[in-house]
Amino acid sequence: MKEVVASAPCKTILFGEHAVVYGYPAIATAINLRIRTKIRKISGELIIHSRDLKVTWKRNQSVPKEFLPICKVIEEISDLIDQKPLNGMHIEIFSDVPPSCGLGTSAATAVSVITAMLEFLEINYDKNFINKLAFEAEKISHGTPSGIDNTVATFGGLIRYVKRNSGPNIERSKYTPEFTLILADSGLPRSTKHAVKNVAILREHFPRVIDDIFSIMGKISDEAWTLLSKAGENLRTIGHLMNINHGLLDAIGVNLPELETLVNIARKNGALGAKITGAGLGGFIIALAESAAVHKIHSAIKNYARLVLIAKPDNMGCIVESKVKT
Ligand code: PMV
Repeated sequence: MKEVVASAPCKTILFGEHAVVYGYPAIATAINLRIRTKIRKISGELIIHSRDLKVTWKRNQSVPKEFLPICKVIEEISDLIDQKPLNGMHIEIFSDVPPSCGLGTSAATAVSVITAMLEFLEINYDKNFINKLAFEAEKISHGTPSGIDNTVATFGGLIRYVKRNSGPNIERSKYTPEFTLILADSGLPRSTKHAVKNVAILREHFPRVIDDIFSIMGKISDEAWTLLSKAGENLRTIGHLMNINHGLLDAIGVNLPELETLVNIARKNGALGAKITGAGLGGFIIALAESAAVHKIHSAIKNYARLVLIAKPDNMGCIVESKVKT
């Protein structure tokens, strides 16, 4: 039976969150935690099923909001091959991480669905095309996405990202650093929109102070980029920079006692550095660790976190994992 499985990596922000909103550089990396899409041929139907969301949709039903970005992708692809309605597929999505956890899952889902569909329908494609389509899906998920998540999910690797009015400047490192990250989820609900708004209000009160903090965050990103994008990266220094960045995230008000506890436990148990990742006020912290310290940090932190994940940078981006042609 005709079947394709494709996947795309999730991401984590290493440096520069929040400052990136105001035009300073941020560094993100793809991680080896993936979202997978399996498509198999069925006759005369289109079904989408998400194992993690436990949601199933059939063509004749109204589209649940979780599947709106995917339906947009399906529409674009069906326009492309002039085949309407596009039927004959059972699309199943499953993930290494929980949904909506701030690890770029919506972009990784879109990229894995697009990769699987293009392969299943035997359409010639390149990764720039996948990235462009995934950005359209991201607009439906997030309104005004920066484009960093779909870029990381498509191409993988380490990315330096600067937001500009004329469109983002995205650089991908030729080198993929080798390190282990421990990702600990506070379990507190997070809202990127809410955190970004809180920081904007603080900036209205203290524009010169907060802009200076953003400027230092940008310098931290650049120092880290220089170290991370060449072989022989100095993990101890990178860990230090993470700690400084975390202090500044605290200063702009996106820390919480629960996140601070996770950061402290990681550091006390041997992490080279630890910080909030992403918007803050909930969600995950990341800790950088040498292999020998991973087990100790994991055992200590798991008692305080809803979920602990171990990840390494990924440099493959989206891939077709298997294909059965009949
Ligand atoms: O938590 P996430 O993955 O949504 O990241 C948010 C990063 C911010 O810099 C706070 C916002 C943004 O749009 O870049």
